[in-house]
Amino acid sequence: MKTQVAIIGAGPSGLLLSQLLNRAGISTIVLERQSREYVLSRIRAGVLEWGSVELLRKAGVGARMDAEGHPHDGFHLAYNNQEFRVDVHKHTGKRMMVYGQTEVTRDLYEAQDEIGATIIHGVENVKLHDLQSTPRVTYELDGKTQEVQCDFIAGCDGFHGVSRPSIPDDIRTEYEKVYPFGWLGVLSDTPPCADELIYANHRRGFALASMRSATRSRYYIQVPLTDKVENWSDDAFWDELKRRLPAEHAKTLITGPSIEKSIAPLRSFVCEPMQHGKLFLCGDAAHIVPPTGAKGLNLAMSDVYYLSNGLIAHYDDGNSNLLSAYSETALDRIWKAIRFSWSMTTLLHRFPDQTDFDQHVQESELLYTAQSKAAQTSIAENYVGLPYSR
Ligand code: FAD
Ligand code: DHB
Repeated sequence: MKTQVAIIGAGPSGLLLSQLLNRAGISTIVLERQSREYVLSRIRAGVLEWGSVELLRKAGVGARMDAEGHPHDGFHLAYNNQEFRVDVHKHTGKRMMVYGQTEVTRDLYEAQDEIGATIIHGVENVKLHDLQSTPRVTYELDGKTQEVQCDFIAGCDGFHGVSRPSIPDDIRTEYEKVYPFGWLGVLSDTPPCADELIYANHRRGFALASMRSATRSRYYIQVPLTDKVENWSDDAFWDELKRRLPAEHAKTLITGPSIEKSIAPLRSFVCEPMQHGKLFLCGDAAHIVPPTGAKGLNLAMSDVYYLSNGLIAHYDDGNSNLLSAYSETALDRIWKAIRFSWSMTTLLHRFPDQTDFDQHVQESELLYTAQSKAAQTSIAENYVGLPYSR
């Protein structure tokens, strides 16, 4: 098989890249290890930056998001049973959209079906070859080895994919910080306890109240890495969440059976460079942020913005400047989001060795933020998403 761009992975980065390229008349083949049903069953992020919203519209997949998503103008920070609102719209003129990653992925699949794009599921043993000359991807499907010849490869295969390790060790530098806790998340068909998200710093640990719709809630609590999800009953989860949320919301919290419950570890990770020869990495294949601040999915989308522009300029005008600068351009924004997610994680979580002094400093920073327009503007502009550079 031949195509212009072979894309490894049908997560949000792979599907969005394929969609933008196909609409620009560039051919793609997407290779995905899992089944379509499996990809669509993953429950992950829920908050879109405005840049992501606009990119999805540009890709022709904005209709259901605009009809069913919930624009949010602000969010709440809570500590010591107090809470204040960061008015993102007032400080930045922009807003966020609450619309789940699962829905984004479904919309992208449907748009790809309409275009007649090629997405091959259930591929095994994917290998990348000849990255410096005429690249090829080999894989196994139903026991047979197949090959795709292409001009470029986009590695959109997540943190555990094959693309990043295909960049030779002596060229690749990896930066990593592993946090000593995880997030236990619960999805439930219950109305959210508040109209906007609440991020809570509590002496027992962080908690987040989020939502997917007027009838579906998403909640998280910080847990030790040693905790097992099967040892957390729904009742135990709700009791702990109520202890950590401000009393006003805990009182009105409506509980119900969990429809998904899982523990995710927290880490910051960056791979540099994000390109090698004809291979370009996008999204979780190149970087991971802790979820505090909702940057993971949004960073995947800004990578796709830069890479799609680079590829389109290359094919349309023969100008490869954007493509050559991809890694540098994308990393500039990535490191800013890495910094923001790290600072939100540091501000809001209880660390195992945390002293009362450290706790006072956290609470003092929250109080300062509550009282300072400058501090709120800084949080707001990072939360809503820094502008794309070109
Ligand atoms: P992925 O979504 O990981 O997609 C990669 C795709 O590649 C997958 O479909 C995978 O099956 C496929 N693949 C992997 N290896 C191969 C291979 N060898 N060959 C072919 N295909 C392969 N972000 C937030 O902002 N908020 C959250 O609450 C949040 N929660 C998360 C919870 C979990 C458990 C995880 C893992 C991530 C979470 N994230 C969250 C991060 C966010 O979901 C990711 O940043 C986003 O999914 C990145 O999209 P992606 O397409 O780059 O990677
Ligand atoms: C969600 C996840 C986040 O990491 C976050 O910061 C906000 C919301 C969510 O899943 O709804």
